[in-house]
This record gives sequence, structure tokens and C-alpha cells, in this order.
Amino acid sequence: MNAAIPFIDTHCHLTDKAFDADRAEVIDRMRAAGMPAAVTIACSDDELPKLRELLRAYPGYLFGAWAVHPEYPDHREADEDEIARCASEPGMVAVGETGLDFYWCKEPLDWQRERFRRHIRAAKMAEKPLIIHARDAEAEALEILKAEKAAEAGFVMHCFCGTAATARDVVDAGGFVSFTGNLTFKRNDALRAVAAAIPLERLMIETDAPYMAPVPWRGKRSEPIHSRRVAETIAEAKGLEVEAVLRQTTENAVQFFRLPIGLAVSND
Ligand code: NI
Repeated sequence: MNAAIPFIDTHCHLTDKAFDADRAEVIDRMRAAGMPAAVTIACSDDELPKLRELLRAYPGYLFGAWAVHPEYPDHREADEDEIARCASEPGMVAVGETGLDFYWCKEPLDWQRERFRRHIRAAKMAEKPLIIHARDAEAEALEILKAEKAAEAGFVMHCFCGTAATARDVVDAGGFVSFTGNLTFKRNDALRAVAAAIPLERLMIETDAPYMAPVPWRGKRSEPIHSRRVAETIAEAKGLEVEAVLRQTTENAVQFFRLPIGLAVSND
């Protein structure tokens, strides 16, 4: 049965106020769907206490990451020690999301580049992987990742929207690529072709919930159970069985984030 194969949402925002009214039910639905874990991300100082509370409430089930998002110019800058310490707290599995955003923010953006470099150095100190947000900035983000030797910590390009050439460069540089609900949008044939060309061993699935709900929930609040739809779309694009995509992307997520969970994968 399909439902028996575990899958992991590697990027959601369960601290978002969009989940304040029914967060426990959203997590109940994840368990009911057979999800063994999810990685939920805090993007500012404000969200961090809420993230810590959530990780305490769901130990061994929800895992976290924190970094000040590149879209926030006027934010306190934590130093490398503080970021590394936070990434080493119980339940924290990565540093992010971090990176470059040339879509929402315009030059001069040296503050963004500097913050990104600091996050990479902190991730290496903490020996935790990086979750990368790059919008209209994939190539430069990758240059910085290479220059800072981010592959030593590991990195994933989340919500990937770049070209096949960039995806290949990410894989060659030792990185992972993760797709969200936009992979299912009708107009995104080119992105599905990119997904088809990436080795399954370097792919992960995510929702970015509450944003980016996949078809047929597009425009509604997304939630982690919808990450399965992303795996189905990758399977269609690659001409594979969805089970194969679920198995491999789950294994990738467990290894990449070093999730301390036991997987009961039934052989159906
Ligand atoms: Ni996000």
C-alpha cells in the first residue's frame, strides 16, 4: 500500500501563525499519513522561541532549523557562535534558511552576502547542513557556497526554481535539490524537466507550508502532508513508480539531516 511508505517534509514553517488555530490537528494528519518526521524552519528571532517550544512538544518527530531569512534587511545579526550554538540544541538539525534573494531585495546587498557567509561558517562550526534559499540568485549563491566550502557541511537548494544547468552545478558541487508545490503548477513544464534530469539520490521533497500548496490545493494553505504530491510529480516526470521516489527521498532526508528516527518501511 502506498500509505505504508514513509515520507518527510524537509521544509515547512509550522511556527507560522497560519497554523495557530489547528497546529495539533495538522501534525495529527501527518502521523495518520505515515510521515515519520518533518523539518520546520524559523526565519527570524521572533519565531525562535515558538520553534523551540514546538520541538520540545514533539521530540523525535519535529526537527528544526533557524537562520535570519535573506528577505529581512533590518534584523539583528547573530554572530557565528550564537548561530552554531542554536543549531546544536536538541532537535535542531540544520542552519537555514539562508542565501540570497535578488527578487525581493535590490542592491546594494552586501549585508545579504555577509549574512549568508556567516551562516555557512556557523553551519561548518556546528557540523550541521545548510538549507539554501536562492531567488533570482542561484548562480551567485552557488559561487559563495563553493568559495566557503559549504559542501563540507552539506547543503540543499530549497524550493528550486533554477535551470537544469544550475541544478547540475549544484549536484556537481555536492549539494541536494529540493522541490516544493510549485513543481505541480500547470505552467511549470520546464521545472519538471529539470526535476527529471536530477539524480534521485540528490532529491528531496518539501512543501514550504503554509505557502506554495501543490495542485489541486493551489492557493489554499499548504500543510506537510501535501509533500507527497511533490513526490508523485517527480515520479511522473521521471517515469518512475511513486514508491521508488518516496523511498529514496526519505532516505536522502534522513541521511542529509541525520534524523535520529527509525524507519519502518514495509515491503508491499
Ligand atoms: Ni521557506
